Amino acid sequence: MPFLLVTDLDNTLIGDHAATLTLNRQLQHQRDQAAPFYLVYATGRSLSSFRQLCQDFHGSTGEPLLTPDFLIAGVGSEIYGAEQQLDRDWAAHLSDNWHRQAIVEIAQTFAELQPQEDSAQNPWKISYYLNDAELESKAAVKTMDQTTIDKTAIVEQLQRQLETHQLAATLIFSSNRDLDILPNKGDKGKAVNYIREKLNVSTTATLVCGDSGNDIALFEQQTLGVVMANSLPELRDWHDQYGQPHHYLATQPFAVGILEALHHFQLI
Ligand code: GLC
Ligand code: MG
Repeated sequence: MPFLLVTDLDNTLIGDHAATLTLNRQLQHQRDQAAPFYLVYATGRSLSSFRQLCQDFHGSTGEPLLTPDFLIAGVGSEIYGAEQQLDRDWAAHLSDNWHRQAIVEIAQTFAELQPQEDSAQNPWKISYYLNDAELESKAAVKTMDQTTIDKTAIVEQLQRQLETHQLAATLIFSSNRDLDILPNKGDKGKAVNYIREKLNVSTTATLVCGDSGNDIALFEQQTLGVVMANSLPELRDWHDQYGQPHHYLATQPFAVGILEALHHFQLI
């Protein structure tokens, strides 16, 4: 039975070129041995930003990234197939009860929210930066912890406002900076579940890999999971609090940690 490997890109699969190449060669060997597996990349990046990353990686290392069977882009707001075609069923699924413009109108009343670049926005994803300057101007001296608390409070306040207006949305805050607003039915974890069911792979033959807050949704599904050794505190804290026996904390950073987990769970 083929297993399913789902990995985040930045600071998980990518981050240490030597580690990525070690993993890629092992996976390529696996493919050549006719021991098939499915590969899915799950990223916050857009399709065009993913293409750029592939080019940069190839340019720096002389070897390409492996072609995935699916790309989950924009934190789960878009799914692309192996030919990079948009999955229209997923798009239709997300569009149900999603009122993008009404949400934007409420979000833009928050001075602390600064819209991300146009290329980071898509019909099912609205992304902001939580602007440090705006927060700092409200109080002269603040510790880092206080700023983090302020940011969490702003996200919660926006969540409440959306609820008051009966606007369904999922808010994902990561890297202590990025706020993504997605339809309720979409995040990385739900996108994986959709693909996993399509491929008919069990949760116990699915491994998800991530390093930051926008990966938490991956770990909330019942699949196997590896929390990167180089994870951000937001994911480490989540793992300390909610980690399950089917989650593994890697001892080595970046892509070698993925390899470690594939062995740990005896998938290869
Ligand atoms: C990527 C995306 C950005 C998003 C962030 C966190 O950096 O480009 O839009 O906010 O991931 O999910
Ligand atoms: Mg990452």
